[in-house]
Amino acid sequence: MDRAPLSFPENFIWGTAVCSHQAEGHNVHSDWWEFEHRGKIRDGSVSGPASDMLNRYPEDFALMEKYGYNGFRLSVEWARIEPEQGRFDEDALRHYESVLKELRKRNIKVCLTLYHWVLPKWVADAGGWTAPGCVRWFKNYVRCVVRRLYPLVDLWCTLNEPTAPLFAGFVMGAFPPEKRSWPLACKVYGNLLRAHVAAHSEITLQARAEGDPRQPLIGIAHAICFVEPRNPHNPVDRKIHEFFDFMHNRAFVESMQTGKIPFPFGIGETIHGLAGSYSFMGVNYYYRMTLRVPAKIPPNDLPDFLFTEGREVTGMGYESYPPGFYQVFKYMSGFGVPMYVTENGCADAEQDDVMRRRYLVRHIAQMHRAMKDGMDIRGYFQWSYIDNFEWLYGFEKKLGLFALEPGTLNRIPRPSATMYGLIARQGVTPEIVREYAPDTEEEIWGA
Ligand code: FCB
Repeated sequence: MDRAPLSFPENFIWGTAVCSHQAEGHNVHSDWWEFEHRGKIRDGSVSGPASDMLNRYPEDFALMEKYGYNGFRLSVEWARIEPEQGRFDEDALRHYESVLKELRKRNIKVCLTLYHWVLPKWVADAGGWTAPGCVRWFKNYVRCVVRRLYPLVDLWCTLNEPTAPLFAGFVMGAFPPEKRSWPLACKVYGNLLRAHVAAHSEITLQARAEGDPRQPLIGIAHAICFVEPRNPHNPVDRKIHEFFDFMHNRAFVESMQTGKIPFPFGIGETIHGLAGSYSFMGVNYYYRMTLRVPAKIPPNDLPDFLFTEGREVTGMGYESYPPGFYQVFKYMSGFGVPMYVTENGCADAEQDDVMRRRYLVRHIAQMHRAMKDGMDIRGYFQWSYIDNFEWLYGFEKKLGLFALEPGTLNRIPRPSATMYGLIARQGVTPEIVREYAPDTEEEIWGA
């Protein structure tokens, strides 16, 4: 059997991803900071200094370069940049400028997220994404960011997984502001789309002001899973599957395509400037979702909804299902723009790191299969570069290629850090697979 390496285009981006609240730490003026200090995190922790990337980024970027990663997705924190309404913090702007310059110096492509779930406390206190002024405030903040950072950014993610704060924050009551209200959720749905349009227009204006001849790359990082009915012959299971697929996977991005707010989030009203307001699609893929309706609706736990018996499950309780990645690319190609994997990764707290290595190799192989079949995928950002503050779970989940040494916060590479760097340079070769994830060899190349 021919075991040809799975190779990727020369200019493919092999990056890692973080969100600044989770990795930089010290995000003291934010709604999450306040929420964490009210004891809302399962392991009782608070984000605190997190992975202290705020101070250690030069060391981190040197490591990325050394290991061969040529892309990095990070966010700018609105709460740091505008800690009080209308006061834009020069130190924070200077900080992000140095961060991006440092990346540029090392030839690491930058994907910058403008909103990754965390709001300044003043915005949250005024109602967050339900406040009448929220889109205008977001636009002002984005204007300030793009004026300062535009030339240093390669890809703009206006929003990270907007459906997560929407459902977790306004339906399940698990994320700030802990609401359970469908009318508020509908308001948030519309305002997040409007916020995306506002950011899109600010970035585009800045591109013109800078005389940039290229069309800027603007998209969102979209949370999408592969959903299947538990029993395809059961019409109830099929209906539940269709409903979840629409609500979770399709509605938001299809709104960006059509420019409209569909039922049940609205009544088909049009948002001006929304239709086609993207030049790439970011794909955040982690798992397959086969739904089970739990006996009691839990406050927040996705794994409670997932049917995973007898299946391979990651440290997050999610089912690892690489073929779903291929299916997701198929659906997302329908938007007619290039795709970037803005997140994909695996929580694995085991010392041997075996699950993460298998997960990475198998998912990258499916991405290769999609590209071979003509799907336009231009880059892959592994979640995550480093162990960090994993929202409601605190520090218990380990998603990093690099671990944090307790106490010192020193960066300790896991075997998958080296493996990922080798893949970035050479593609998926039989030698790499044999050394790092030998039991996947047959799945990739056949017996
Ligand atoms: C995604 C989030 C990211 C991280 C990973 C594990 O849903 O965008 O911040 O928490 O999950």
